[in-house]
Amino acid sequence: MGFPKGFLWGGATAANQYEGGYISGGKGLAVADALTGGDGRNNIPRKFICDMPDGSRATFDAMEDVPEGAKAIVDPDTYYPSHIATDFYGHWQGDIDLMAEMGCNVNRMSINWTRIFPNGDDAEPNEEGLKFYEDIFRACKDKGIEPLVTLNHFDMPLHLANEYDGWVSRHTLEAFEHFCDVVLTRYKGLVTYWLNINEINIDVYMTSGLHEANTNKQNREQARWHRFLGAAYAVKKAHEIDPANKVGLMIAHGVSYPYSCNPEDVWCELTNARDYKWFFGDVEVRGYYPSWKVLELKRAGIELAKEPGDDELLREGTVDFYSFSYYNSEAQAASPEGKEKVGGNMSSGVKNPYLETNAWGWAIDPLGLRINLNQIWDRYQIPLMIVENGIGAIDVREPDGSVHDSYRIDYMRDHIKAMKAAVEEDGVDLIGYTPWGWIDIVSAGTGEMRKRYGFVYVDMDDDGNGDMSRSRKDSFYYMQKVYKSNGEDLD
Ligand code: BG6
Repeated sequence: MGFPKGFLWGGATAANQYEGGYISGGKGLAVADALTGGDGRNNIPRKFICDMPDGSRATFDAMEDVPEGAKAIVDPDTYYPSHIATDFYGHWQGDIDLMAEMGCNVNRMSINWTRIFPNGDDAEPNEEGLKFYEDIFRACKDKGIEPLVTLNHFDMPLHLANEYDGWVSRHTLEAFEHFCDVVLTRYKGLVTYWLNINEINIDVYMTSGLHEANTNKQNREQARWHRFLGAAYAVKKAHEIDPANKVGLMIAHGVSYPYSCNPEDVWCELTNARDYKWFFGDVEVRGYYPSWKVLELKRAGIELAKEPGDDELLREGTVDFYSFSYYNSEAQAASPEGKEKVGGNMSSGVKNPYLETNAWGWAIDPLGLRINLNQIWDRYQIPLMIVENGIGAIDVREPDGSVHDSYRIDYMRDHIKAMKAAVEEDGVDLIGYTPWGWIDIVSAGTGEMRKRYGFVYVDMDDDGNGDMSRSRKDSFYYMQKVYKSNGEDLD
């Protein structure tokens, strides 16, 4: 009963939201380094400042494609949250000690592509960057913490985005394959758990390309094809380099419910869910496009540019385990008019009247996690890992450094209980849990610092003020108790 022995308990971060040191140690610029901060609660989006072909300068909402020929730049008079982030670059030894103190035996983190290849497509890697991560992985191992490394977490070298429109171009795929060759070889024996591409089902600025990658359907599907090939290549190569390697896919996997039992709502939910998430899981687990997708592309007149061997690669690079992020759920209505929209990472649904939300409008739904785990397990029958989960909230640090985040403890307790029920009562093969932003980091969606997920508070605000000191929140001690009891002590 309970969680299996050896269950992986830890925390998750992404380099572009945590690391900082944006041009230190030979690192080049990434798209995230050119993204300003926004304000999620007041609907002020993150932005790109661009040099235009006519020599002028213009600013664009990051959720929209920027015009062809525009190049995103880093403006010296603008504050960019990723440049310092919460400075893992300068604090990594102490942060790993904190992870160990919390009882973690796994650390989900990502490698900044531009720390290894400053332009993304350089011929030779940057040794200083390679050494940086090697030291971190060794330190983790010394503390009994298994690194779980995401090869690409919302990470696109700025050069590849500006000049090649990111994943739209095959050139980016080839550059990514080279990156995989180098890091998988270098960290052989040091890292055995890998995730290929974070939230492969999210096609926006950081994950895809800057220009017509998203609004132009042909480009969007081509970019997806290249991402799938990159993901499959990572799996195949990891297995060739070290058969001990285990590689998982990673999908943004909120749960959706039909708004009512009206068959129109049920159909709306089904088509939305397969378009938004199941398509991506099906391709990475089964190795081919599902029939409805093939027909949809045909009807839309979209033809993917393929090269010989592509289809075979997709079939050969299927994953070892299924990892996903879960924060919230949504309802899908065939007639959404007049219904309140719900918040969430790229959520498209309407508000579920049965659920409470956080300050950003994300629904809180622990039973949704159990439903999710069962749906995925029933469909694929491969091991599952929850690699993001948590609540973004505004925390108050008291003068003595303490943070009383009982709302976060409640969220974690309820979600871990749901996981436990899925394991104990439903027989789901769940192998690990790495809550999101175990230490405070920059929000990906809004670029804010005030939206905090961590069990460790970092003194940093939305404008770059703060001394970066770390303090343990009440939730830190709660998670420590949970982790050290292998998920038994949940009260
Ligand atoms: C996921 C991403 O979508 O959600 C993370 O993988 C992100 O990078 C997380 O930070 C939470 O979203 P946000 O916008 O609150 O940071």
